[in-house]
Amino acid sequence: MNETYQSQAWREQMKLKMDFNNMMTDFVGKSGISKEEISAYAQKCENAKEAMAAKRKNGKMDWRDLPYNQNNVAEDILSYVNEMKNEIDAFVVLGIGGSALGPMAVQQAVNHPYYNELPREKRGGYPKLYIADNVDPEKLVYLFDIVDIKKCLFNVISKSGSTSETMSQFMIIKEKLEGEVGKEEAAKHIVCTTDAVNGNLIKIAREENYKTFIIPSGVGGRFSELTPVGLLPAAFCGVDIKALLAGAAFMDELCQNGDIFKNPAYMYALLHYIGINKGRNISVVMPYADSLKYISDWYAQLWAESLGKKVDLDGKIVNVGQTPVKALGVTDQHSQVQLYAEGPQDKIVVFMGVEKYKETITIPEIYGDIKSLGFLGGVTHNRLIQVEQMATEYALLVSCKMNMTITLPEVNEFTIGQTLYLFEVATGFAGELLNINAFDQPGVEEGKNATYAFFGRPGYEEKKKELDLRPQKKNEYII
Ligand code: PA5
Repeated sequence: MNETYQSQAWREQMKLKMDFNNMMTDFVGKSGISKEEISAYAQKCENAKEAMAAKRKNGKMDWRDLPYNQNNVAEDILSYVNEMKNEIDAFVVLGIGGSALGPMAVQQAVNHPYYNELPREKRGGYPKLYIADNVDPEKLVYLFDIVDIKKCLFNVISKSGSTSETMSQFMIIKEKLEGEVGKEEAAKHIVCTTDAVNGNLIKIAREENYKTFIIPSGVGGRFSELTPVGLLPAAFCGVDIKALLAGAAFMDELCQNGDIFKNPAYMYALLHYIGINKGRNISVVMPYADSLKYISDWYAQLWAESLGKKVDLDGKIVNVGQTPVKALGVTDQHSQVQLYAEGPQDKIVVFMGVEKYKETITIPEIYGDIKSLGFLGGVTHNRLIQVEQMATEYALLVSCKMNMTITLPEVNEFTIGQTLYLFEVATGFAGELLNINAFDQPGVEEGKNATYAFFGRPGYEEKKKELDLRPQKKNEYII
């Protein structure tokens, strides 16, 4: 990005805007939120702010400091990328959840949408990127059809170092690599990203002499995009990771504003919290840019896994959360918007717009004599997508459906860094308002443990007994 982000004036131009007019009663009538309601939550917000500040100070929100303390790590990453990038054709991420969604979102946002199909020189000399985040057998086998594993660098990403999906992929690839190139050479094709102390992966990495990058211990999976989890894959496909960190740092300053009306993350969280209390149990994120499509995937995990909780911090059963839905403008105007406009009052729709797209394309001035086509002549797709976004906002407004808009002046590393950080702080703040732990995932652990028990993993005998007592399925309900 030519370090343009170092100029204060440029940074100000690139500031994200959050417009929540259509959340308010002034616009959507009694289906909205009034200023008085916001004021009524002032004390709750004060408590949440204090809790956030205390956690940050006491090292319980280490992800808040990543925009500052990962700059040295970024240097190490960049020198490793320089050393390796010409040696490989493809960089393959083996990870799942927080270890895959961030890398996917950032690369898709910043790079050419057909990045892998471009000739290498048009990729800036960087390798292709693949993300293997599932254990669907077909997907991995078919990956071997299109890459030469001798020309791949496999990045095993796992904070716990024990996730079955990731570790099984690693085991398959390790054996395959060693079979093809021998143990010593195979080690050069594997790089691990994991915790410095805990889990099997760090032990294996040390024993096998794999290059390793560390995820800071206090940073959980879905908050780890600004650690080597996200920075390494991003740097391997030419993303300016320092600009990404700078964008996050810029948003961190905005998110420290004590005035909730000036703090986008706190306001985002509060509006959603009030929305939940009014029965808005669904959070739709609908970017009007293909480049941002995977940001909604990443958001969906962050919002769902962080806020969907059974018990609150006082141990009370609350079963809270808001179901995230991923949508894409304009594509989903022809799929889901009918429901958003006329269906139940159970959603908050967050549009994500872009002021300046990377490219411009103009519709030719033909068919001027056909009314339904003539008006399009001479209009750019840039204008068309923006007008359609405004029109959809309007459709929701007149249906009195809560909606808001986050606008990125451009999609680049700096604005994506801001976006990630904004949603992360909003999630943390929403967790405080809901009085839940936004940083654990006991529901996911239950599924992981049941998998281990089904396989008879040692240490899971009690869980296996519990599983064996589950109700047996009845044939009458299987057709
Ligand atoms: O946010 C989370 O903690 C999870 O989604 C994890 O990222 C996911 O389960 C993968 O875990 P790990 O990185 O330990 O392999």
